[in-house]
Amino acid sequence: MRRKIIAGNWKMNMNFSEADDLLALIIADIDDNAKPVDVDVVICPPAVYLELATDMASGKAVLIGAQNVSSFENGAYTGEISAAMLESLEVDYAIVGHSERRKYFNESNEELTSKVKLLLAHGITPIFCCGELLDDRNDDRHMEVVSNQIGDTIFHLAGEEFQKLVIAYEPVWAIGTGKTATPGQAQEMHAFIRALIAKKYSRETADQCRILYGGSCNASNAAELFSKQDVDGGLIGGASLNADDFALIIRSA
Ligand code: 13P
Repeated sequence: MRRKIIAGNWKMNMNFSEADDLLALIIADIDDNAKPVDVDVVICPPAVYLELATDMASGKAVLIGAQNVSSFENGAYTGEISAAMLESLEVDYAIVGHSERRKYFNESNEELTSKVKLLLAHGITPIFCCGELLDDRNDDRHMEVVSNQIGDTIFHLAGEEFQKLVIAYEPVWAIGTGKTATPGQAQEMHAFIRALIAKKYSRETADQCRILYGGSCNASNAAELFSKQDVDGGLIGGASLNADDFALIIRSA
């Protein structure tokens, strides 16, 4: 039985005191109402709030993730944040290859592969993002695109490394648009990804890999998406910025 993950990606939002307030509300809700026992809750704030977040989450049923990591180990890379630095802050997860980073920061498959390897070497779980553009889906190339994104990056990992990562399927056309993939579309892609993993590694590895859905997932549509057999939770953007909505999503898992 795979544990579900509800991860909030705050993206580049909020100032320090707003971040402090939101995290306090999320933690208080989990303390008061208890989250479902088989659900991991992960919050990915902007990097400058990671120390605050790991301090606040210490001893609580909330895990903290980074939104990005450097593809370099350490050294003269001004402005970068290394996997070792994240490890020293006791960060548990890191998002890799979000479509916004692929689009605006031209992240290449080589960089993404390096990021995943460095995170694993530092004991941090990568949440590897993949997903097609609207044109890809309209041209019926969505399976091929996602298969290439995975095949050119995380399929370079050895089996025991691969078992430590989480995948997030985020169709680009659904991110921040209010256009969610239907539960059927999500299930179809998640089952396809799981079949790719079974073929590359093993049925057992595929069965234990957690695959999250992301893209306009909110308190109204979460339960139906998460009810699908191969959907193991969500990577939530906009709706994770509201403590009440996020609490509802956690309870939908
Ligand atoms: P939205 O939930 O705002 O569509 O964002 C999804 C996302 O990109 C999470 O990483």
